[in-house]
Amino acid sequence: MSQTLLFPDAVPALFGDKVYLRELTEDDVPAWFARASDPESAVLAGDPLPDSVEMGVHWLQRHRERFRQHAALRWAIVPTGSTDSVGTIGLTITSKAERRAELGIVIGRADWGKGIGTSAARLVTGYAFSTLGLAEIQAEVLRRNLASRRLLEKVGFHLLRTIPGDPHSDTNFEDCFLFVLSSQNRTPAEQRRDIVWS
Ligand SMILES: CC(C)(COP(=O)(O)OP(=O)(O)OC[C@H]1O[C@@H](n2cnc3c(N)ncnc32)[C@H](O)[C@@H]1OP(=O)(O)O)[C@@H](O)C(=O)NCCC(=O)NCCS
Repeated sequence: MSQTLLFPDAVPALFGDKVYLRELTEDDVPAWFARASDPESAVLAGDPLPDSVEMGVHWLQRHRERFRQHAALRWAIVPTGSTDSVGTIGLTITSKAERRAELGIVIGRADWGKGIGTSAARLVTGYAFSTLGLAEIQAEVLRRNLASRRLLEKVGFHLLRTIPGDPHSDTNFEDCFLFVLSSQNRTPAEQRRDIVWS
């Protein structure tokens, strides 16, 4: 395994059992706005509520710019057999030297609980370790976010520590769990998962 990150020239398409992941486009903005303006989902994801769908232009530009800077990768999540995205998933590089990134994922409420998030996270973690060259992926979730915690455990993440909420903070007042998945700790079954990408 390379000791440096092999950042791609284009966002790679990844194909799994229930979903495929592809580059974000302008067509994904309306679905982004519907998700991002859902107050419960926004709090769980740690994202601010957008004022208007026009902010989707900046949302897309920001992801493209961070990709160009080799700072992050973000995919649209599309259920197999469809062309419309139902969510996004991404990796933000938090340490190039230590080959570490943070996982983020949001799916629209209408598609929660269908296994889509788990399928997408398996694709991204598989790609991250076998092709991108990450050594470790972290994920920070609100302690009360049971769906996200369960998703991470299913994909092989382990609880690293609790990040206590700050009662004096306006934004970070809730307890969070920090989960970690290391390339060395993946089981052979996790490494064999059905990952195909172009
Ligand atoms: C968290 C999220 C990405 C999960 O995606 P999803 O496609 O709904 O997840 P899956 O269908 O793959 O389900 C994952 C597991 O969580 C379980 N789960 C779902 N909702 C649950 C809940 N409210 N309580 C407990 N478990 C729950 C599912 O049953 C499944 O476990 P199982 O296979 O053992 O039954 C999605 O709910 C979401 O986008 N939420 C809002 C934003 C968010 O929280 N993002 C993550 C921030 S870290």
